[in-house]
Amino acid sequence: MENLEELLTERLAHAMEAATGHPADPALRRSAHADFQADGALALARQLGRPPREIAAAILARSTLDDLVSSAEISGPGFVNLTIRDDVLAGRAGQLAADPRLGVPEVADPGVIVVDYSGPNVAKEMHVGHLRSTVLGDAAARVLGWLGHTVIRINHLGDWGTPFGMLIEHMMEIGEAEASHTLSAGDLSAFYQAARAAFDSDPDFAARSRARVVALQNGDPQTLRLWAQLGAESRKYFMTVYRQLGVLLADADFQGESRYNGDLAGVVSALDGLGLLTESDGALCAFPAGFAGRDGEPLPLIVRKSDGGFGYPATDLAALRSRVDGLGAGRLLYFVGAPQRQHFEMVFQVAREAGWLGGASPEHIAFGSVLGTDGKMLKTRAGGTVKLTELLTEAVTRAEAAIGGRGVPDPAAVARAVGIGAVKYADLSTDRIKDYVFDWDRMLSFDGNTAPYLQYANARIQSILRTAGGAPENGTVVLTNPAERALALELTGFGAVVTRAGETLEFHGLATYLFGLASLFSKFYETSTVLVEDRAVRGSRLTLCAATARTLITGLGLLGIEAPERM
Ligand code: ARG
Repeated sequence: MENLEELLTERLAHAMEAATGHPADPALRRSAHADFQADGALALARQLGRPPREIAAAILARSTLDDLVSSAEISGPGFVNLTIRDDVLAGRAGQLAADPRLGVPEVADPGVIVVDYSGPNVAKEMHVGHLRSTVLGDAAARVLGWLGHTVIRINHLGDWGTPFGMLIEHMMEIGEAEASHTLSAGDLSAFYQAARAAFDSDPDFAARSRARVVALQNGDPQTLRLWAQLGAESRKYFMTVYRQLGVLLADADFQGESRYNGDLAGVVSALDGLGLLTESDGALCAFPAGFAGRDGEPLPLIVRKSDGGFGYPATDLAALRSRVDGLGAGRLLYFVGAPQRQHFEMVFQVAREAGWLGGASPEHIAFGSVLGTDGKMLKTRAGGTVKLTELLTEAVTRAEAAIGGRGVPDPAAVARAVGIGAVKYADLSTDRIKDYVFDWDRMLSFDGNTAPYLQYANARIQSILRTAGGAPENGTVVLTNPAERALALELTGFGAVVTRAGETLEFHGLATYLFGLASLFSKFYETSTVLVEDRAVRGSRLTLCAATARTLITGLGLLGIEAPERM
């Protein structure tokens, strides 16, 4: 079933072309004045040098809308206001209520999409940037998968590079047992900082660390064993964070940087063979087109360092090739903070120049920072990196306090859903590219655009449905008042909203939609008694309740947020 927005857009586009001989976009949107508003006549009139109201009238004269709208009026300078027929709306709402996909179409052109997200670093605490990447990337994986794409999750773990020399030396110094203990307890920052401190203060340690990097690169078995142990302990810790967060990332999704070690020399020789590399101070660099420094000098992407080692860029080039050629990905999404924009754009451009992209398109899905309520980067009181497990535990503890006294049957499970949901929703409901303020009180509030508000709205509907003994199967919707009508109209908009989220990978539109839906439900519930005598009205209202609840649950689910039955 095509959604109303698409149908109206098609019809109007057709009429615009028929009326003027020019194809044009009707620019349809939801409206405060009617159900929908089409502003396209204005731009078209400007283009043709004719009065906009006249164009609007010509469009309406040529359009066939009667089977969909009860009124089509020109307003203001030439807007077209459209009101959907009540019977159409009722029919569609009824169909939605019976549709497992709630009117969300699968994409016509499913593809293989790699979602690269989380990407923490071994023996280093995940910072809030990793948290954002994890939450946003997970929502993307869920939405794209539900829309019918094949999603491949990749957790590009930072498990290679020069810091491993000092990390392994530190491990040897404190003993393997002690190191394992620290890491499995999640004290990654403590471990990393101790290694760093020794490296900075003790020249002997620093020299041993450098030698250790060489041993690692040369595949010394003892060194490799310790390196693998560091990785295993860290992955264990990251998995506890993922489980706490309730994200899809599994052990099998870790595809560490080290995995590409064997491909790096090939990357360099292939680029060299294509004439894309230039030597600069002993390093081999690509100078992708379109990148210049402050003084206009071309910017290098270093693919082999002067000491012969490879770094982050070479690894990402190798990873990209393997994702395109090995996994057959058509789209490569990288959920990484905005500061890495230039890195990704340069890597993508080098891959393009090398002809490695084929038909695939790589996209850096950037996001802003997480700020504390003081407006600065979120840090612990001591100024250190916030430990994620502690942050998430605090979320649940605070949620427990917030729901305390409500008498819910399984308070621990509800607190988990509410606390974790609040953290995720605070992130997903803000414009991705903007910074957002991590504010416990706001995110855990039961009022406003928050997870607890939406979860509570669903729980309330579940309680109504329980009292009524459920909603009728294949219920028919009849619209008897404006609040029912507004709710039915909003329900029909879910498909377009989810489709758009899949295209833009912006989730605040979906969040705002769910908040609007829950608010309209509140108005409906205030004005329209559900359990009335009239069987048709009662059945219809229960059907609207059930469809609203399912839309909330599905929408929250796509954001990776649970919706408890009772709370
Ligand atoms: N480990 C990196 C960091 O902490 C993020 C990895 C992102 N993914 C990638 N393919 N480079 O900044």
